[in-house]
Amino acid sequence: MIQVLCDGRLFHLQTKNTSYVFFANPVGRLEHIYYGARVEDPATMLMRHGRPAPASFCVMRKGEYSNMGPDVLPQEYAGFNSGDMRMAALIFKTEDGAAWTDARFVSAKVVTEKRALHGLPSSFVGTKDTDVANLEVTLLDEVGGVEVTLLYSVFADNDVISRSAIVKNVSDKIVRLERAMSAQVDFAGKNHYEMVNFYGSWARERYLDRTPLRHGIQATGSLRGATGHVHSPALILCEPGATETMGETFAFVLEYSGNHFEAAEVDQFDGVRVQIGIHPGLFSWKLNAGESFETPEMFMTRSGEGFGKMSRNLHDFMRSHLIRSPWNGKRRPILVNNWEATYFNFDTQKILDIAKMGAKLNIEMLVLDDGWFGHRDDDKSSLGDWFEFKKKIGDMKDLADGIHALGMKFGLWFEPEMISEDSELYRAHPEWVLCVPNRPRCYGRTQLILDFSRPEVVQHLYDVMAGMIGRAGIDYIKWDMNRNMSDVFSAALPPDQQGEVAHRYILGVYKLNEMLIEAFPNLLIEGCSGGGGRFDAGMMYYLPQIWCSDNTNAMDRLAIQAGTSLIYPVASMGAHVNAQHDVARFIPFETRGNVAMAGTFGYELDLTKLDEKEQETAIRLNKAYHRYHDTISEGDYYRLTDMFHENDVEAWSCAAKDKKQAVLTVVRRTKIGNIKRVPRFTVPGLDPAKHYCLVDDAVEAAKQQVFPGDVLMNYGLWCSELEFRDCASKVYLFEAID
Ligand code: GLA
Repeated sequence: MIQVLCDGRLFHLQTKNTSYVFFANPVGRLEHIYYGARVEDPATMLMRHGRPAPASFCVMRKGEYSNMGPDVLPQEYAGFNSGDMRMAALIFKTEDGAAWTDARFVSAKVVTEKRALHGLPSSFVGTKDTDVANLEVTLLDEVGGVEVTLLYSVFADNDVISRSAIVKNVSDKIVRLERAMSAQVDFAGKNHYEMVNFYGSWARERYLDRTPLRHGIQATGSLRGATGHVHSPALILCEPGATETMGETFAFVLEYSGNHFEAAEVDQFDGVRVQIGIHPGLFSWKLNAGESFETPEMFMTRSGEGFGKMSRNLHDFMRSHLIRSPWNGKRRPILVNNWEATYFNFDTQKILDIAKMGAKLNIEMLVLDDGWFGHRDDDKSSLGDWFEFKKKIGDMKDLADGIHALGMKFGLWFEPEMISEDSELYRAHPEWVLCVPNRPRCYGRTQLILDFSRPEVVQHLYDVMAGMIGRAGIDYIKWDMNRNMSDVFSAALPPDQQGEVAHRYILGVYKLNEMLIEAFPNLLIEGCSGGGGRFDAGMMYYLPQIWCSDNTNAMDRLAIQAGTSLIYPVASMGAHVNAQHDVARFIPFETRGNVAMAGTFGYELDLTKLDEKEQETAIRLNKAYHRYHDTISEGDYYRLTDMFHENDVEAWSCAAKDKKQAVLTVVRRTKIGNIKRVPRFTVPGLDPAKHYCLVDDAVEAAKQQVFPGDVLMNYGLWCSELEFRDCASKVYLFEAID
């Protein structure tokens, strides 16, 4: 719900449990007032809002009222070089060379339609009967001739507010945009937060840092051209001591897959300014008279019940209002991918052998990974040549028919944005790569990057990919991207627009996704970038799942998947059972399966090498997938162990929305001698008044254990099966019986 109060100058964005309040003050600065637990009438907040006295050394324009000069004032979208010395949300340069920004309130309107951004991901109302309200606030920098429209949408049921900004040149001269954040949130008079953000690397994605905020700017981001393995486009604030179930937490998440920036600045009066948006490094945008720039959308949530509720708000929001694939909410086919089974060393027979064994084990899709195209037998050639390597796999249609004849779906790997120098495409179009003239080029995995800021490049990729998908009847594609971006320069743009290349590139990536989705609405697309290097809410708008990490070791995956779950829903996390690669630890097949089950679920191994016992386990896991994976992927997700530390035992639990089923998964990392206690875990999200059977197919019906919901929710369950083995795991399935 949106309330507009105080003669149209006080705005109250109210969700089920939160209130977000801001105010157009008498001189037109948009003051942030409050983001916190829900209140009913925020008007009285204005009576005593602000510092008792102006801060010395605050500069302000003549006639500017306030006991809070611009450098102290909490603002919704701060300007630059005009009094507020903290991070600016908006910086632009006018033709006279000035970088001076001060956009003041003009008007606001509540609108019924949720605006969709052009060529960018945007959350949507969706089909569910939800309460979504929208507010558009217009600010104007009169001197520079720049209008800013701040878009707010309130997804009341999810406790989520989405935001973005549209910057329009309303002058008759050229304006150069240097920085345009998607959102800023100023927390004033409320401080001592801690910040949680993501860090990592290839094979070690989305680890968590948690540190007290200190004075100054603390920022993460990416200038890698993509989200990157190192940081994620999200930032979390929490009160000290916040846990999974207690304490105030805030999450800010960017729907963007390119260079991103997320920062918190603690100012001289302990106010905290949060900003998130496109990274201002490697960015500038020329706005001719009348042109607009739309920032990517971000969304934010606040939970008064710790990180668990915060994550569930985000998961629900993304599943209902962001992931638009028709596969969203649907059970995905259990897949086997040949990458870790064969790497480049395969032929038609090998792939069909894996598929045949897959069919026997009730696996539902075979994905043919890297190495099927051009003349690619290693990673040194052929990217860009998306036609089949005939000597290796014959005709793709025949192979696809062969897999389909087994009753399985067929998926194919592409790396659309890349090009090898040793490729027909490069020989035909050397000008299509990103590179700076007269500078040495940087290579990653021997490959170069195609200039996706050029529409003809995007169109070409569409033509060849759509041709293959249509001709062979491909059901799924894995869209990979295997290097960081450097040499950012487009031969197609003039010198004064080179700052646009990185963003235009991402718009090209989104455009190709859009074209493919339009042409093949039921195509299941899985994102990937050397594992989880482009795992973000922007890609999720187009594709429902992303390969979480190239690290498929179940013990290592525990931290990666828990970190990822802080923001992103389980249903989006690509996770597969791998072969026993770990030389230091024996990880039972069952455990590898139970960990992969907390993701989209599939296999990443040579099925033909499974022994009989492993085959039986795979059949059991595949049956279990159909029995309870809907609860894992579509239900409420609860982390039961501390995700900031490695624990001897890790546990998570998922409860179906209708409370008829819950799945508790417990994994023992290491066995220590004479352990203090057998782990006991509660099972949250049940109906306290119902009774639940602990389903064990090995036990006859009359002897199944039945527990009241309130006992499971409060006393919990002793997981004694885990006492004796390293890397042991157990899934406890509860089904309501009344
Ligand atoms: C990346 C992906 C892997 C695999 C290889 C193929 O590293 O993350 O899953 O597809 O590329 O080259």
